[in-house]
Amino acid sequence: MTASRHLIGLLLGTEEDWPRAFEEILRRVGPVAGTGGTRHAFDCERITIEPFSLRDHPRYNLVIDRLAYWYYHPREWLKKAALMNGVYLLNSPFTFQSMEKHAAYCAMMRLGLKVPETVLVPYKNPVDNARYAYTAARYNRPFDLGTIAERIGYPLFMKPYDGGAWRGVSRISNPAELHAAYDQSGEMLMHLQKAVDYDVFARSLSIGAETMVMRFQPDQPMHLRYAVDHEFLSPQAGSEVVTIGRLVNSFFRWEFNSCETLVKGSEVYPIDYANACPDVALTSLHYYFPWAIRTLVKWCVFTLVTERRPKLDLETDRFFEVGDDPDMTYQEKLDAYRKLTDSYFEVDRYQDFCQTSLPHIDEIVLDWVAGPNFDRLLIDTVRSTYPAHEHDKFIAHLRGLLGLWVRDETGRLHAT
Ligand SMILES: Nc1ncnc2c1ncn2[C@@H]1O[C@H](COP(=O)(O)OP(=O)(O)OP(=O)(O)O)[C@@H](O)[C@H]1O
Ligand SMILES: [Mg+2]
Repeated sequence: MTASRHLIGLLLGTEEDWPRAFEEILRRVGPVAGTGGTRHAFDCERITIEPFSLRDHPRYNLVIDRLAYWYYHPREWLKKAALMNGVYLLNSPFTFQSMEKHAAYCAMMRLGLKVPETVLVPYKNPVDNARYAYTAARYNRPFDLGTIAERIGYPLFMKPYDGGAWRGVSRISNPAELHAAYDQSGEMLMHLQKAVDYDVFARSLSIGAETMVMRFQPDQPMHLRYAVDHEFLSPQAGSEVVTIGRLVNSFFRWEFNSCETLVKGSEVYPIDYANACPDVALTSLHYYFPWAIRTLVKWCVFTLVTERRPKLDLETDRFFEVGDDPDMTYQEKLDAYRKLTDSYFEVDRYQDFCQTSLPHIDEIVLDWVAGPNFDRLLIDTVRSTYPAHEHDKFIAHLRGLLGLWVRDETGRLHAT
């Protein structure tokens, strides 16, 4: 029997919870049988940052990146590893340019999605550049912010074109709030976007060929934002939310991304879907954390064993041909996108692979989450996240939710 070893690199910022979970699940899964009888073993290392020659050959076959969106030395290392060495990246830094909301809005509008009306207005304060004053005096056209807002209609949201973590987001109900928010925007470049009056907020997390749709409560504190609720969308809306998440991801070649959609009646409005370093913290995902880390392990193993190749070019025409077709209805477009995305993510092949090569992973993860090793991780995570007087409260809160997951998962596995 031939043997193959694969090294997975983790490029990390401050997080400790999901990397520990990932390392542990990968270790417990052990070697995996591929086609042709090859035995595949996996190692996992946390990547350190150091000088590198552009001609060095990295030891990693796949890298999960959580750092390069703000730290440029490892970002350049990733680009080199992608261009020169074909290392598989979740996600590729070549897609960062579209990681601001703006490019994603544009692409999804062209594809016919129900992105709310959105206008980009020029900077409020001068840009820090010696050429700005001359250029602005000569070419910036005066505009009436109030008229733009009237045209969109109140209420609306003002938010940075490249936002994240709720920075600079405000909900605006009248002209006074509009001008106050614009005055405060300073050097940030802002969108005005029509507010969607919604029934439920669905946030989906996609990892490769799998998507989890969760009910999200943005007005709650972080640890309560994801609600455990399995039936909050109609099957039709649920499927549309999955399609939209996968469409964004296959369009930009993101394999690890979250997507926010607002659902009103049977209509689904995507509002934020460029989160290619998504929150997977145990303290926010709680009940959904085991699914997320298990799926991350499954997708990495699938990718490495089947030698899935990374693609740097976006091949956007595949999608534009559908989006630009005047004879297709919205539903027909969604169906066509779903075919394209599921083929891009090899959904059927992935499911077959998981059944034949990872048949016990669900039991392995359940056994781990139900045991003392996971409880240690939970306690350590709470201690490093919250002040001392809140430790007991959050340990009990998370134990309750993870206990619920263990009960549900035990039922699911015994039912099948
Ligand atoms: N068009 C809209 N209609 C209704 N609510 C909106 C709209 N745009 C934004 N919001 C609300 O404001 C919140 C933050 O907006 P958005 O997601 O665009 O910013 P963000 O900085 O990416 O925040 P986060 O990091 O929480 O995703 C959303 O979660 C939602 O509750
Ligand atoms: Mg958001």
